[in-house]
Amino acid sequence: MKIIPVTDVRHKAATIPALAEAPTGLLTDQLTRPLRDLRISVTDRCNFRCVYCMPKQVFDKNYVFLPQTDLLSFEEILRLATLFVAHGVEKIRLTGGEPLLRKHIEKLIAQLSRLTTPEGRPLDLTLTTNGALLAKKAQSLKDAGLRRVTVSLDSLDDTTFRRMNDVDFPVTDVLHGIDAAHAVGLSSIKVNMVVKGGVNDQEILPMARHFKGSPFILRFIEYMDVGASNGWQMDEVISSAQVIERIHAHMPLAPIEANYAGETAARWRYLDGGGEVGVISSVTQSFCHECTRARLSTEGKLFTCLFATQGHDLRALLRAGHTDADISGAISHLWRARSDRYSELRSQQTANLEQPLRRVEMSYIGG
Ligand code: GTP
Ligand code: 5AD
Ligand code: SF4
Ligand code: SF4
Repeated sequence: MKIIPVTDVRHKAATIPALAEAPTGLLTDQLTRPLRDLRISVTDRCNFRCVYCMPKQVFDKNYVFLPQTDLLSFEEILRLATLFVAHGVEKIRLTGGEPLLRKHIEKLIAQLSRLTTPEGRPLDLTLTTNGALLAKKAQSLKDAGLRRVTVSLDSLDDTTFRRMNDVDFPVTDVLHGIDAAHAVGLSSIKVNMVVKGGVNDQEILPMARHFKGSPFILRFIEYMDVGASNGWQMDEVISSAQVIERIHAHMPLAPIEANYAGETAARWRYLDGGGEVGVISSVTQSFCHECTRARLSTEGKLFTCLFATQGHDLRALLRAGHTDADISGAISHLWRARSDRYSELRSQQTANLEQPLRRVEMSYIGG
């Protein structure tokens, strides 16, 4: 057995034992959750300053973003992605910051789109974007091999949207981006709306009406206490139960089964056949027990939870010249040791403040 040094976000030295170990296609953690999804951040920059994510007071002109040399190169990302796929990852999501700001992102997509699972199936390769550059880039992304896309959109009302992105970006440009993605043939396009009480919750119904019956699946996300800069408070969270209640009062809904185990969103369909909406309840009804997601940061640190305070420096291993088998063994070690379930622990603390979503389902739909 060798010892491979791994440093954390604060550059403390940590060590993980790495048996040069071949991937088997199935890795499970301490709670028997398999590793199935890899979310890769390709830039820490964004052209928006959403109030709940990159508030201007923190991310101002003095904020120091990562220098280019710290970023994983496309070759490094591809090498790690290949190892993760060999370990059982079936879905790769490119994120940021805003991933479309990464230069030549299409080249990376083209390389990733050629990866297949050990059984020979193509990956579910997707990307989350704020949509600002989507109208311009939809065709080249599709040509590169991207299969689907998820667009963040917090309001249809231009004034509210500009206030939330805080860079005065017009909502019509994002709507054009969504239409362009559809026009070029990207499928299963989802629209994610973070609901922040007192800021955009009046937009729940207009958004639901707008996307009802469209090819796009709208999902409402509970405002989370992620990161340390958004000044999160529980009383600004609009629960998924409230979201469903508001929509159901005007456009009746019924719950439907998840598409796959561990899906973040609970799905509801319109009783009149107008399609579906989803609610993502990371605050009031966590989904940690089925969480199969690993996150690779822009500079190559592996995080086993969205709320983890410490990452594991895979880039250091790559740049120190370790073999694929060594790095594969390091990934195995980290995932097997994983016991994260942050949202679940937070939900237990807030359980008395909110009606569980499933109970509301029954009282509104009649079981
Ligand atoms: P699909 O593949 O389309 O089902 O996407 P997804 O829901 O897995 O990913 P997406 O990026 O669309 O997630 C939507 C939102 O859910 C994110 O922006 C987060 O707010 C939240 N979310 C996603 N993954 C996690 C997670 O692992 N933990 C928590 N707490 N929230 C998550
Ligand atoms: N709460 C919930 N979701 C968030 N996102 C960013 N910050 C938060 C937060 N505080 C998610 C949103 C956005 C994506 C890029 O990240 O879904 O669309
Ligand atoms: Fe954050 Fe996305 Fe908004 Fe950029 S567009 S500030 S990454 S939520
Ligand atoms: Fe997964 Fe952590 Fe999110 Fe729970 S809080 S679902 S463990 S990323």
